[in-house]
Amino acid sequence: MRQIQLQKPGIENLVLAEVEQPEPGPGEVLVKVHAASINYRDFLIAMGFYGGPGLTLPLVPLSDGAGEVIETGNGVTQVQAGDRVTSLFWQDWQDGVATPTNRSISTGCEAPGMLTEYAVMPESAVARVPDSLSYDEAATLPCAGLTAWSSLTTHARVKAGETVLLMGTGGVSLFGLQFAKALGATTIITSSSDEKLERARELGADHVINYKETPEWGAKAFELASGGVDVVIEIGGAGTLQQSLAAVGLSGRIAYVGTLTGMNTDLNLLELLGKNLQIHGLTVGNHADHEKMVGFIDEHGLSPVIDARSELEQGAETIAKIAAGQHFGKLVVTLAE
Ligand SMILES: NC(=O)c1ccc[n+]([C@@H]2O[C@H](COP(=O)([O-])OP(=O)(O)OC[C@H]3O[C@@H](n4cnc5c(N)ncnc54)[C@H](OP(=O)(O)O)[C@@H]3O)[C@@H](O)[C@H]2O)c1
Repeated sequence: MRQIQLQKPGIENLVLAEVEQPEPGPGEVLVKVHAASINYRDFLIAMGFYGGPGLTLPLVPLSDGAGEVIETGNGVTQVQAGDRVTSLFWQDWQDGVATPTNRSISTGCEAPGMLTEYAVMPESAVARVPDSLSYDEAATLPCAGLTAWSSLTTHARVKAGETVLLMGTGGVSLFGLQFAKALGATTIITSSSDEKLERARELGADHVINYKETPEWGAKAFELASGGVDVVIEIGGAGTLQQSLAAVGLSGRIAYVGTLTGMNTDLNLLELLGKNLQIHGLTVGNHADHEKMVGFIDEHGLSPVIDARSELEQGAETIAKIAAGQHFGKLVVTLAE
């Protein structure tokens, strides 16, 4: 069988390898992978910027994939051959809050990832695919989908009638847009591109802001929401957090997930206390929240937004492509029909 392996840090060191098909051991399942999807983290891992000592090379990249269980090892009780499953981002974080012992193994980093024709995983590291989704669509859920879902529900507890601000039109933000609309929120989304903003409107965005043309987009969002937005999914970090602080209103919540524009910044923190704000950092989410997201997607008939599909041979260039930021939604690698 074929898989992509990261042999040492550097995109140029992602190679297509031929290896023996693995067999499931006790408590494990063998999955025929039909599709996998790229997250910004996969690019950082390939570049050697993320992962630390838990990462062993060669590594099969990608946290996110979907496929069919074709064999189960001894003692497997929750999953059977024929089940349609996705990977979970965290293989060991099943429920509750993260602790040092329950959130330590992530797919495509400390454990082998999904850019492979067959994958062996613990049965606790897979979740069922929403009935309404294809494998390509389901492969986008484990990281971007769950991050948006846990930001809005577990952390920010968005209520119908509130206003949610999404930043840019990448994977997390478009899931955030779809979930927020389905939760009954009013949505504001930003982008560097008017063409992408038009597409976001077609997906249901109520208000749009071009953040290149409107550098003070925080104040603009505050005004559009008539007194500040209730919730922001903050993906930008150093270059955007001050604008997010300006965007939120009294008792607003910022789900803090990304550092696309850097990690270190000076902030005027007066807004934090003056507005009674909450800023909650998070790392994707747990299995229980993933299952709730799956149920919500089926109930509301939501379809993840896929920008482009490629094949296994283009795995390395598809990982590199995410850093260019040209995509709208998700980049998917299709491995089998
Ligand atoms: N903590 C977690 O659990 C977690 C989970 C998932 C992702 N993340 C992080 O969250 C970030 C986003 O992830 P993703 O998967 O959605 O990435 P992505 O699909 O690569 O999204 C990138 C998009 O972000 C937008 N963007 C870039 N700079 C921006 C800025 N200054 N202001 C507003 N938008 C900007 C751009 O949208 P336009 O092209 O529309 O301008 C770009 O296309 C990454 O840093 C990722 O590592 C964290």
